[in-house]
Amino acid sequence: MTAATDPVKLMKQQVGKAAADLVKSGSIVGLGTGSTTAYAIQYIGERLKSGEIKDIVGVPTSFQAEVLAKEYGIPLTTLDAIDHIDIAIDGADEVDPQKNLIKGGGAAHTREKVVDYLADQFIVVVDAGKLVERLGSVFAVPVEVIPMAITPVMNAVAQLGGKPELRMGVKKAGPVITDQGNMVIDVKFDSIDDPVNLEKTLNNIPGVLENGIFVNCADLVLIGEVKDGQPVVRKM
Ligand code: A5P
Repeated sequence: MTAATDPVKLMKQQVGKAAADLVKSGSIVGLGTGSTTAYAIQYIGERLKSGEIKDIVGVPTSFQAEVLAKEYGIPLTTLDAIDHIDIAIDGADEVDPQKNLIKGGGAAHTREKVVDYLADQFIVVVDAGKLVERLGSVFAVPVEVIPMAITPVMNAVAQLGGKPELRMGVKKAGPVITDQGNMVIDVKFDSIDDPVNLEKTLNNIPGVLENGIFVNCADLVLIGEVKDGQPVVRKM
């Protein structure tokens, strides 16, 4: 792996490597989405190639993870062909002290939730900038919605006190379309006092497929930070 020079990239690289080091031979691995997990996928592939670990199969959480797994030589499987996932590695946009998360910055939270919740061990990889005292402090909650229900869902989340915004594409005219062919509304709440209930409430709105609040599922959070000019990884 070529070392990054930008400090944030360097942290992501170190934390991705630390997570990849936790993968043991013979494991079924949930492959998350995002720029931090991309390093974990790369390093799992490198460990496989060097023979340090063997007999790994991956379950991708997105087209991005699928493409990276193919690039780095990690064989893939589907949830129809396996009965468990040993370890999942995935990023997050916010992490609170209880290890609750907001995810979905890459619009992949629906598949991520399926895979991450199924894993015996779910490892979250973040840089220290993602840590918050309370979820929703910085990030909006991504909500995947079937296209015909965009307007009623936006009205419903506004009734709950959220400020909804339809996520627009970059280098693509119009809204972001998810890997499932749906759209994403980013909902900013002033403060999320009860993430457990908000997760359920959002998912109960007709037309919502899944939202990016992940509660009581992370086993370990690996946090990358720079101390005395050096990247270090600590655990939560
Ligand atoms: C993908 O939808 C997200 O849940 C990502 O895992 C999350 O946005 C973290 O991505 P980065 O590692 O790129 O910050």
